[in-house]
Amino acid sequence: MPLTEGMEVEALKGPKIVSGPPGPRSRELMELKDRFIAKGYYVNLPIFIKRGIGALVEDVDGNVYIDFGSGIGVLNAGHSHPEITEAISEQARMFSHACFHVTPYEGFLRVAERLIRAAPGPTPKKAILLNSGAEAVENSIKIAAYYSKKSSIIAFENAFHGRTYMAMSLSSKVKPNKIGFGLAFDKVERFPYAYCYRCAFGQAYPDCGLRCLGYIEDSFASRRAPEEIAAVIAEPIQGEGGIIVPPEDFMRGLRRLCDRYGLLFIADEIQTGLGRTGRMFACEHYGIEPDLMAVAKSLGGGLPLAAVIGKRDIMDAPHAGGLGSTFGGNPVACAAALRALDAIQGLLPNAERIGDFMLRRGRELEEECELVGDVRGKGAMLGIELVRDRGTKEPAKEETRRAIEECCKRGLIVLKAGIRDNVIRLLPPLAITEDLLEEGFSILEDVLRGIKPI
Ligand SMILES: Cc1ncc(COP(=O)(O)O)c(C=O)c1O
Repeated sequence: MPLTEGMEVEALKGPKIVSGPPGPRSRELMELKDRFIAKGYYVNLPIFIKRGIGALVEDVDGNVYIDFGSGIGVLNAGHSHPEITEAISEQARMFSHACFHVTPYEGFLRVAERLIRAAPGPTPKKAILLNSGAEAVENSIKIAAYYSKKSSIIAFENAFHGRTYMAMSLSSKVKPNKIGFGLAFDKVERFPYAYCYRCAFGQAYPDCGLRCLGYIEDSFASRRAPEEIAAVIAEPIQGEGGIIVPPEDFMRGLRRLCDRYGLLFIADEIQTGLGRTGRMFACEHYGIEPDLMAVAKSLGGGLPLAAVIGKRDIMDAPHAGGLGSTFGGNPVACAAALRALDAIQGLLPNAERIGDFMLRRGRELEEECELVGDVRGKGAMLGIELVRDRGTKEPAKEETRRAIEECCKRGLIVLKAGIRDNVIRLLPPLAITEDLLEEGFSILEDVLRGIKPI
């Protein structure tokens, strides 16, 4: 599978650790980071990047890494994709900002048109463009509230929807994301997601009959009536929560529940969207049409760009001037997005192949490595949940930290996830070559085999 033929330069082939990491230059920059950047603005790895190509990253000390993180799922088309880079410089030479509300431009419309065409379901749709995932989530909630004239929202445990006030309120992880930040939006009703490895009801799928769905329905009598609830917001696969892949009938059941009780269904496709799971949007796996959908991350091909796409009547509910953004749908980001969408379309089969490979090798690892409690994923997103004891499922948080650090030392970038910080998350660019995928996964296997539960 020649995934990125011609995109890698010879000098950057495979991991190459020349000094560290962290090497002297990265250490120097880290000192500056500590001096100038607020402590709360976290950094997980001790290396500073100099350049990236395809699925490879070179740091400022000349170390080369295989990137299984994609800048948290942003580089589905790979680092420095030549056509995206070209589109960026071409547009920047024409104009780099105009503000769509002042002097609109065609690129904005073309991106919206492409997203509407790609969005699942037959209902006519409209879109707006924004900057970040959190902003897309905020706007989807505003639109849902305006349309429904209701204000409560159902969200899930382990969910992550961003770090602005509303998005933080919808998100689940308390430490370090929410603690200390004071009052949050208080009309969020939170329910267990279908996290079958750690079922909140102590049951096993499918014998459970999806108790998690029934529990939501029961709550309408005891907690909050559906007449007060505007929408349910859910990730089709929870990303930050630890790559939690729910049974397909959970998502379909959720959609039906929304229809039955007059709630809008908002799909947060920010991490799962744009080809990550092998389809343009993960909702396609479940055959469901969301009422509203938030997308961001890989949309801008590495530049900040986000969107809300939704059913036309719902999107058109807010009055003229009720929605907007100075930078939303920036023209350079739109030019990049049009090329990124083309590239991703062509990479969809790779996402499936990457998924087959990672799931197979992950499951083999689970057989032999006692630290691995659960392996789950779809397409090019994989979660490996580490536990100290398979019986008690005690989270192996420290071991996860050490594994990520050790991978970095050996030339592999992987991400942490999970409400308990004990999941290794893999989100390689869909443009990764077969060789690099194999090489990177072998590093991870080696590292995990070498770590014994504390
Ligand atoms: C599912 C999901 N929603 C929302 C967000 C927030 O996106 P952003 O960081 O661009 O605000 C993220 C970011 O990781 C995410 O994974």
